[in-house]
Amino acid sequence: MNSRKTIAVLCGSLRKDSYNRALARTLPALAPEGMEFDVLEGLDELPHYNADIQAEGFPPKVDELAAAIAAADGVAFVSPEYNYSIPGFLKNALDWLSRVQPAPFAGKPVLIQSASPGIFGGARMQYHLRQVLVFLDALPMNRPEVMVGTAMQKFSDDGKLTDEPTRKFIAEQLKAFSAFIERVSP
Ligand SMILES: Cc1cc2nc3c(=O)[nH]c(=O)nc-3n(C[C@H](O)[C@H](O)[C@H](O)COP(=O)(O)O)c2cc1C
Repeated sequence: MNSRKTIAVLCGSLRKDSYNRALARTLPALAPEGMEFDVLEGLDELPHYNADIQAEGFPPKVDELAAAIAAADGVAFVSPEYNYSIPGFLKNALDWLSRVQPAPFAGKPVLIQSASPGIFGGARMQYHLRQVLVFLDALPMNRPEVMVGTAMQKFSDDGKLTDEPTRKFIAEQLKAFSAFIERVSP
């Protein structure tokens, strides 16, 4: 496989000063050579899933997101946990994408990260997401897991991930993801 890898990033926060957005912005600096990231925007522009809308034709944004995911070598979710689960607009986007054929996530290597001011770092969201990924037929990497807890101690006020052990751990996860993509991709 070509050593260049494009990773589509789905971020589960819309907040300007989001820890998870800050985490997503950090990925290029910590990734192995040749791994590039494309943060997919506009997930919050999708209407609430409704089969009647689908019957009239998928919203163009759904087709656009599906094409970007299908074309990527892997997908990274970087998301907070809301009420122990996946933020609503992200789940809505996955519901839309689950209806697209050919299935954009089928066989797609997936990386999961979360950040939270809480000590569990969004772990419960990750396991809900993994459940959804079963139906999408995606291939989430099992380990290493990255859950950035007590985020306020790990990011600077201007949104930089400053905690060195966390940066090192994320670099290890991205290196493992690169190898995982090579292992599972045809
Ligand atoms: C509706 C809502 C639900 C939340 N539920 C959780 C939760 O279940 N677990 C958790 O660790 N943090 C929870 N939080 C706190 C978020 O982790 C915190 O707001 C975090 O900063 C959101 O991520 P962001 O900084 O990327 O926007 C919740 C916040 C909101 C607004």
